[in-house]
Amino acid sequence: MAPKNKPIVARKLNLDKDYSTITPMIILGIETSCDDTCASIVKATGRKNPTFEILSNVRSSQIDIHQEFGGVVPNLAARAHVENMNPVLIKAFKDTGLNISKGKSGIDLIAVTSHPGLIPCLLIGTNVARTLAWLWEKPIIGVNHLKGHIYANWITSQDTTIKYPAISLVVSGGHTQLILMKKRDDFKIIGETRDDAAGEAFDKVAKLLGLPFPGGPPVSKAAEKGNPEKYPFTPPMLASNNYDFSFSGLKTAVLYLVQGLTKNNKRLTKKQIYDISASFQYAITRVLVVKTIRAGKQYKAKTVILGGGVAANKELKKKMRHAIEKELPKATPLFPSPGMAVDNAAMIAIAGYFEYIAGKAKTWRDIKARAVV
Ligand code: KG4
Ligand code: ZN
Repeated sequence: MAPKNKPIVARKLNLDKDYSTITPMIILGIETSCDDTCASIVKATGRKNPTFEILSNVRSSQIDIHQEFGGVVPNLAARAHVENMNPVLIKAFKDTGLNISKGKSGIDLIAVTSHPGLIPCLLIGTNVARTLAWLWEKPIIGVNHLKGHIYANWITSQDTTIKYPAISLVVSGGHTQLILMKKRDDFKIIGETRDDAAGEAFDKVAKLLGLPFPGGPPVSKAAEKGNPEKYPFTPPMLASNNYDFSFSGLKTAVLYLVQGLTKNNKRLTKKQIYDISASFQYAITRVLVVKTIRAGKQYKAKTVILGGGVAANKELKKKMRHAIEKELPKATPLFPSPGMAVDNAAMIAIAGYFEYIAGKAKTWRDIKARAVV
């Protein structure tokens, strides 16, 4: 007869006693919510007005794997996370220049993206993080990926200089949300996409134009040479009396245009690709800017924050900056550097620290991945 399984009892971690006075804190961030395997080590100093120093920030992209599908295939992404996680972690430790050996981590806190995202992918990162938290007996935070995109801006700006209320526009491959922040840790979603995310629209339009995945960078590059007035797409939901977005109609408008231009086996010319890219980018950035500014006015925003992969878009940043200067002159724009706009684990470490000082530290048992916010 098989022996009866004995229940495994975890050692109890006294979070308050062990960790509440540590400063600076060394945080390990882990991000695997989509198709980037990321690990970062961040030094956070101070509780009241925290400052952050990125000691390492490693990102392993899976573009090569998903390119041929024109989008992220969750199970392939998860498999790649399994393969990439350890080399990424090892590099993140090496890059710090700190003398951190395997058994003695030197890490005070672990922050891992636990939601929202692709479940097979989130499970890899959260399980690695839980295992390390158990092994090292450290507190752990399950981070909301979208908050990470917002807090990515705290690297370039001092916490004390950021004024509220703030309006945050998070635009990524999976999400498009307008968020009202009355204070640093107060998030209220006031609008979101009803269908495709902004980044997803860039990706789908790129596919229609025969440009590579992910579509944001090649479409915006092609747009630089094109005429944004050549194909006047209607910016979707511009006049709607709310802060929601919709991009699937815009993608369909591009589809019909491409179908018309490629009738009788014709191929798109380079000029047509440039002009369609510019016209599409004009329409999508216009609605993103108009709605953000409208929300900024209604809520008397003192700061306008951008986050997510699409926040790397030069045209979006240019238009947003210009509109803020003109229509919200008292507000300060807060835009991430391109490296901090896309998925990375430093932003997860920073978000984790804010949750930590808000008293939300957990033990490994309490961290669960979930697909939605
Ligand atoms: O935040 P992110 O790295 O991952 C998700 O959380 O989804 O965002 C990826 C998305 C992709 O859809 C990509 O096409 C888009 O961000 N993106 C851009 C640019 N760079 C990345 N979209 C427009 N312009 C860019 N320069
Ligand atoms: Zn993201």
